[in-house]
Amino acid sequence: MIAAKFCSIKDWENFVDLKRELIELKTQRLNLGKMVEDITKKLKKEVEKKERLELEIAKLERLHIIGQLAAGLGHEVRNPMTTIRGFLQMLQSKTELFTYKHYFELMIEELDRANTIITDYLALAKDKPAEMKRQCLNKLLENLFPLLVADAYSQGKKCNFEPEDIVELDLDSNEITQLILNLARNGLEAMTQDGSLTIKTFMDGQSVILSVKDEGKGIDQEHLEKLGTPFFTTKENGTGLGLPMCFRIANKHNAQIKIETKLDGTTFLVRFPPRKSDPLNES
Ligand SMILES: Nc1ncnc2c1ncn2[C@@H]1O[C@H](COP(=O)(O)OP(=O)(O)O)[C@@H](O)[C@H]1O
Ligand SMILES: [Mg+2]
Repeated sequence: MIAAKFCSIKDWENFVDLKRELIELKTQRLNLGKMVEDITKKLKKEVEKKERLELEIAKLERLHIIGQLAAGLGHEVRNPMTTIRGFLQMLQSKTELFTYKHYFELMIEELDRANTIITDYLALAKDKPAEMKRQCLNKLLENLFPLLVADAYSQGKKCNFEPEDIVELDLDSNEITQLILNLARNGLEAMTQDGSLTIKTFMDGQSVILSVKDEGKGIDQEHLEKLGTPFFTTKENGTGLGLPMCFRIANKHNAQIKIETKLDGTTFLVRFPPRKSDPLNES
């Protein structure tokens, strides 16, 4: 060890200052080491996240391509199906084929079912941008109501509409009509005769709520988890595409669908968030 010589108090003070600076530098170096370690960890996590996202995007892209292919295929398959249906109808009316009448009916029914699946799938796969227009949801419902009442009446059921004062929303009329029809039809299908379907609109805070309530038997937990999965259906003639379409439409409108289900019925609640203010009004 080299002994330090101090000629004056000043020297001593300088030495103490230097020592203190050295200690501070050492502490800083330690802190820096810790910072570098933390940043490296964070970077590692970010890289992993990026890799996961890249995989997710690649998967989505593949799914998108498959979806487009399926939509194209569906579209192409519909034309020959129409021809086949036409011939079947023609043969069905021939007296010499009367014994096979039941088979023809069955074939036509099956073709119609396949056609419904394709139509629903194409509606779901269509990547059309929404055409938003500021309007009142109650007006849309008022126009649809006679159709819903007729639908309900033909099944021996009732349909009520209880609108409250709500603010206007930016809506794509065609899509929201589809959403209402799908929810209402599901509700009607869930009920036995004499059941009532109730459609309400009301405000909850700043949000507009559309509620579709049925008097069916409710939905099992096991089924509840699968709702919205394409092709999930518990109906003999269902397509399982109605709810996926509703979820997609709600999503396009930044709306959320909540399901409340009990043994005496199910309510689908669509919550439309407060509209973004007009750009002109901002500032
Ligand atoms: N209101 C409801 N009450 C009971 N079950 C429902 C209701 N809405 C939907 N479901 C269930 O969700 C499934 C999927 O519905 P959906 O996607 O519209 O297809 P689909 O009506 O063709 O079966 C239905 O088969 C049914 O089991
Ligand atoms: Mg349905």
